[in-house]
Amino acid sequence: MNKKKFRLHNEITIIGGAGHVGLAFALICASKNIRVHIHDINKDSLNLISKGILPHKEKNGLKLLQNALNKNLLSFSSEIEQIKLNKINVICLGTPIDEFLNPQYNILINTIKKLMKIINSNNHLIIRSTVFPGTTRFLHQLLENNNKKIKMSFFPERFVQGLALEEFKKFPHIIGSIDKKSENDCKKFLKIFSNEIITMKPEEAEITKLFLNSYRYIQFSIANQFFKIADTANLDYKKINFAMKHNYKRGNIPSPGFTAGPCLFKDTMQLSAFSKDNFSLGMEAMTTNEGIVNYIVDKIKNKYDLRKKTIGILGMSFKAESDDTRNSLSYKLKKILVLYSKKVLTTDPYVKNDPDLKSFEFVNKNSDILIIATAHKIYSKIKTKKTIFNIWLET
Ligand SMILES: NC(=O)c1ccc[n+]([C@@H]2O[C@H](COP(=O)([O-])OP(=O)(O)OC[C@H]3O[C@@H](n4cnc5c(N)ncnc54)[C@H](O)[C@@H]3O)[C@@H](O)[C@H]2O)c1
Repeated sequence: MNKKKFRLHNEITIIGGAGHVGLAFALICASKNIRVHIHDINKDSLNLISKGILPHKEKNGLKLLQNALNKNLLSFSSEIEQIKLNKINVICLGTPIDEFLNPQYNILINTIKKLMKIINSNNHLIIRSTVFPGTTRFLHQLLENNNKKIKMSFFPERFVQGLALEEFKKFPHIIGSIDKKSENDCKKFLKIFSNEIITMKPEEAEITKLFLNSYRYIQFSIANQFFKIADTANLDYKKINFAMKHNYKRGNIPSPGFTAGPCLFKDTMQLSAFSKDNFSLGMEAMTTNEGIVNYIVDKIKNKYDLRKKTIGILGMSFKAESDDTRNSLSYKLKKILVLYSKKVLTTDPYVKNDPDLKSFEFVNKNSDILIIATAHKIYSKIKTKKTIFNIWLET
């Protein structure tokens, strides 16, 4: 451990610290012997964490959590009155879009307003949530208008969900600080983890994160569009995909599939809102990715009288090997199929927050048709005599 650095920031606060981004960062900090005060309104998650149980899947997370608890590095609060601010305070709150696909900032604004009384010039607020460009400066201004002159930075998270602890070490860190003082302070803190830090304006850092997520969302939509074109023409996309990719580096197209989750869709929509609705590629990607569900349903409907069939959906999390159901297209699939079929059964080996789930054995036994909605690895090995619809190339 670098004692000097440990002394510099011997405790930090993470607001939203029980969530996917927040807890991962808390564990990374604790692994560097930094004490972490986790503030989160989700008491159930705090309770689990304090008992050494991860509230969601995170590779290698359990060991780090147990080490952190053994070393007494974690403290918790769920009420704003109990929060302990430190020099470094990292905000990892969710930043959803509304029903009109516009960004919502209320959670951030309300949190800042609640902190207004206790926040002071010693505090540095670091925003790790993905935000609409201009948000960091706007929140800083909100504080300044209330005579709170604090340091503020935007520090986007770029990991693949579930692999945060592994990926954190691999990438340079991007920061967009409000002024030089904030930038130097943020760099000093992040040097505990990495020497490769890219600095830019807050708005540039904010849009960098949106560009990256939109780019990925568009890449998936290309695969989905290609799949639909080939499949509609009765051509074997699996073969085509192999031919495109095999020993050919420029053919690296992802698998078609149910592209969803808590980030890619909403960040593409945030970018669209920022572009004043001039992001046609992003909107196209959205209709293609969302439309793949209806495409699969129509394909099955064209072949079978679904009113006489029980459909089993395999996989309810939004992506493979995950337990996270947020914005999962499996639920859209279920909703549509409920309208047309005799019955819909669902299963997932990892999801824990859905009381309707049955075991794979039950779903397999009681369904006429199975659809692999999430490409969990175990589905590549299943033994069944039932008809399977599978859009994924890996399973
Ligand atoms: N999940 C990812 O893979 C990922 C990756 C990169 C960036 N992001 C971004 O990071 C942000 C957080 O995402 P997440 O997936 O960790 O969300 P999450 O829902 O898992 O975590 C948010 C946490 O904030 C807590 N919370 C909500 N309101 C609160 C309040 N008023 N005070 C204190 N805590 C509160 C929730 O209980 C939850 O634990 C989002 O902006 C997201 O776009 C997510």
